[in-house]
Amino acid sequence: MTIPLYEVRNISKKYGSVVALDNVSLQIHAGEVIGLVGDNGAGKSTLVKALSGAHQPTSGEMYLEGELRSWKSPHDALEAGIETLYQDSGLAPDLSVSANVFLGREITSPGILGKMGFLAQKKMDHQAHADLEAVGIAVPASNRSVSQLSGGQRQAVAIGRAVAWASKVIILDEPTNHLGARQAGEVLQIIKRAKQRGLGVIFISHTLPHVLEVTDRIVVLRLGKVVADAPTSTFDAEKLLGTITGLIETA
Ligand SMILES: Nc1ncnc2c1ncn2[C@@H]1O[C@H](COP(=O)(O)OP(=O)(O)OP(=O)(O)O)[C@@H](O)[C@H]1O
Ligand SMILES: [Mg+2]
Repeated sequence: MTIPLYEVRNISKKYGSVVALDNVSLQIHAGEVIGLVGDNGAGKSTLVKALSGAHQPTSGEMYLEGELRSWKSPHDALEAGIETLYQDSGLAPDLSVSANVFLGREITSPGILGKMGFLAQKKMDHQAHADLEAVGIAVPASNRSVSQLSGGQRQAVAIGRAVAWASKVIILDEPTNHLGARQAGEVLQIIKRAKQRGLGVIFISHTLPHVLEVTDRIVVLRLGKVVADAPTSTFDAEKLLGTITGLIETA
């Protein structure tokens, strides 16, 4: 067995008396797409926040490439190569597309301008456009402000930003929400390309045909517990739905 790219063991998370995650373990390997599914409130976004360093789990461990790691902040996880698109993705509407792509990692010009903290605006516009194009996202001019984009275009920028920066793991929490059929199809293509690049992808969605199409393995959460973790080929739509709702009992 190869060492998993990213692994969580026995992660629990309590919010006061609410047990959002109860002893959750999962592994993801390089070049693998995991579907993480479950009903509203099952704990998916809570797990994402633990994986991405946004929240500290109450207990449990995380291993990146076999090494025990813990994240004090999302920045720690980003530095380690883990990119996350949160369910309510945070783009800054008043900033340009390229400023959003580079948010928190702005390029500064070398020399005196750089020392004074000026940003290499042209370079970022150009690079942002190239990065988005490389992951298959056609956005209008990257110097346009995000507030001038449609909801779907904003979502595309958020996805492109995450995929472009990820070096190891990318976590997408409901990335196809609010997207039309064609754009949702494009997101699925982006996921397939990220897999080909050798990234580990965690894809969260309530759209089960998308999950069945694009994933290698599916992990089902119910009331904070993993109730199924099996190759996608062992599910069909009916079995997956039954496992999510609890109509089909699993071991
Ligand atoms: N900040 C919080 N404070 C208190 N309880 C929370 C908090 N965040 C989530 N919860 C609770 O934890 C449980 C899991 O929520 P979570 O957001 O992880 O669900 P989810 O699977 O992502 O659902 P959805 O499909 O609706 O996005 C729910 O019972 C929720 O009410
Ligand atoms: Mg959620």
